[in-house]
Formats: sequence, structure tokens, C-alpha cells
Amino acid sequence: MPPTQRIAVIPGDGIGTEVIEVARRVLDAAAARHGFTLAYTELDWSCGRYLDEGAMMPADGLDTLREHDAILLGAVGWPQVPDHVSLWGLLIPIRRAFRQYVNLRPIRVFEGVESPLRKARAGEVDFVVVRENVEGEYSEVGGRVNRGFPDEQAIQESIFTRAGVSRIADYAFELAASRRGYVTSATKSNGIVHTMPFWDEVVAERAAAHPDVRWDSEHIDALAAKFVLQPERFDVVVGSNLFGDILSDLAAAVAGSIGIAPSANLDPTHTYPSMFEPVHGSAPDIAGTGVANPVGAVWSAALLLSHLGHPRAAADVLAAVEATLREPTTRTGDLGGTAGTADVAEALLAHI
Ligand code: NAI
Ligand code: MG
Repeated sequence: MPPTQRIAVIPGDGIGTEVIEVARRVLDAAAARHGFTLAYTELDWSCGRYLDEGAMMPADGLDTLREHDAILLGAVGWPQVPDHVSLWGLLIPIRRAFRQYVNLRPIRVFEGVESPLRKARAGEVDFVVVRENVEGEYSEVGGRVNRGFPDEQAIQESIFTRAGVSRIADYAFELAASRRGYVTSATKSNGIVHTMPFWDEVVAERAAAHPDVRWDSEHIDALAAKFVLQPERFDVVVGSNLFGDILSDLAAAVAGSIGIAPSANLDPTHTYPSMFEPVHGSAPDIAGTGVANPVGAVWSAALLLSHLGHPRAAADVLAAVEATLREPTTRTGDLGGTAGTADVAEALLAHI
């Protein structure tokens, strides 16, 4: 019997609680089938908690999480609480404290899910955006001077380190080696003359260490156009924090619905717990009505299983997702269907 792995579960707000319940049931079914066990610590950290107690999480929250093997998160955010409070009070401290330097966003057009792009066909569009998650353009270095005067200035520094660019590039090349063997690096070295040529140089160095993987480099503007015009050409796309952020939302839109998009915030060294969460938010407009699509949370749970060393269980979960989406009666409203969250949950469990 392998040792029990510990999962910290943060359902959060709104539909976060509804989709995470499904993800947990699916995880348990997959674990039972493959002979391992998961133990959960359910945490009520959320905007609800903030409104009651004045903080998204307890002061020792990060210490609690540190004792777990992984974190499964639903979504946080609620109308009465400013979004920067929910983001900086929970998500960003977790990503940074646990050096989750990879943000992984798989993109697939599934059979049964219509892409807004006429030519994006099921089975042909299947790629992963690898976003640098802890440095780059989203840095705390900079400031404002001469506030309120005509000569007021704002300075925002970008930080690109050799260690940071090397490790994200290595992750992308290794991931591509396990897939179709093709990396595209997002750059803008024609316009951003210091950091982006450095990014390009370091990526080229790491490419040389992975001769089995084909690669090219594209300026971010041209790359955005190619996501729309030729989404089937990509395998692994690697970008800085800002470029990866924008590209990954564009890519999720290409796949047809935000309700199915998963993400992983990874510490590939396994020193700290990694965090898995659907891309969507708490959807206050549909919360409590039982119609939320649980697929984004369930696919995120499959990424968690892969990361914890259960690739066969992860493959089973993904196969159940494929089967459920293929069937018109088990598609939710965001995909043009009429199924509720509970119907999709039953179908997923039946497949596993
Ligand atoms: P949202 O993703 O919550 O909703 C956008 C639209 O998509 C809504 O019409 C919603 O009904 C629909 N939708 C989202 N997920 C769905 C699902 N699983 N099934 C069916 N339909 C779905 O984004 P919005 O409205 O901008 O943000 C709502 C709150 O969520 C805000 O407080 C925001 O800050 C927070 N948020 C939190 C995130 C996180 O925890 N990582 C990510 C994005 C937003
Ligand atoms: Mg974003």
C-alpha cells in the first residue's frame, strides 16, 4: 500500500464549493480503483471568511498548507469583497511562498465542445501553455514619485533571472519531450530590448540541452494571431509571466468554454505543495443554482493526480471527462446542454 497523500482543499466561494465537491468524489473514485488513498483537510478560506473574520486565511495559513502534498482550490471572489483582497490575501501568497514557478494551462478542443473558431476541430487542437509564475513583469519592484503633481511618475521594473528563465524553459522542453516534441517561445525582443533578448538567449541555451525537441521563437503579437488562425500547430508554448497570462486566457477561449479550463501552479521540485484550480472564478451569477460545469475542477484534479505520481488514475479521469463531453445529455449550459452539476458528476463517476 503506498502512503496516504494529504490534500488541502480550499473550495472558496460561489461555484467553487459546488465544483470542488465533484472533484473530490472523482478523486476518491479514481484512488479506489487504483489502490491508493488520499486524505483531505477541508479549509473554509474564502471571501465568506473575510467578511466574518477580516482575513481570507488564518495568520498561520501557509504553515498549515506546507504539511500537505498538494492543494486543490475552487475559486475565491465575491461581490462585497474587492478582488485585490481575495487575490493578494490568498492566491498570490500561496503561489509565491511555495515557489510555484510554473503555471500550466492545458488546452484541448474536445469532441462535443464547439470552439468559437470555425476551423478548430476536436482532436486537432491539443497544446499546453507554460507560464512563468513568480518573476518577470509582475514584480514588486518600482514605485510612484511626485504623487499628484504634473511631473508624477510610475516606475515598474521587470525582473528576469538566469535561474528563473532556465528553469521554466527546462520545464517546457521536458514537457514537450513527453508530448509531440515541439516548443514555441513567446518573445518581443524587437521592442523590449533588454529583458527579451536575455530571455531568448537563455531559452536557446536550454534548447541546446534538449536536442530531441524542435523549437522556435515567435513575437507575442504574431503568436496571438496564430493562436486564432492555426491553433492546431502548437504543442508546448512557453512565455514570461505577463505573456503567459494573456496567452493562456486566449487559449482557454479557443477551447470553447471557461467552464472546462484547468490550471496547475507547480513547484516541479516537489519541495513545496503545488496548487490545482479551475481557471474560472466563483461565478456569483449562477452560484447556488446547480448548473456550474465541474469539468474545469475535475480536469485540475487529474493534473493533481499526475503530479502526485498517479498517471494512470489521471488518464482515467481525463477519459471520463472526454466521454461525458461527447454525450449531449451530460453537457452543462455553458456548452449548450441542459445537464446540471449533479448529472455530470454521476456520469463522470459511472465512467471511472
Ligand atoms: P467567472 O469565471 O466567475 O465567471 C465568468 C462567466 O462565466 C459567468 O457568466 C459565469 O457564470 C460563467 N462561468 C464561469 N465558470 C463556469 C462554470 N464552471 N460553469 C458554467 N459557467 C461558468 O468570472 P467573473 O465573473 O469575472 O468573476 C467572479 C468572481 O470570481 C470575482 O470575484 C473574481 O475576482 C473571481 N475570480 C476568481 C478566480 C480564482 O479564484 N482563481 C479566477 C477568476 C475570477
Ligand atoms: Mg489571467
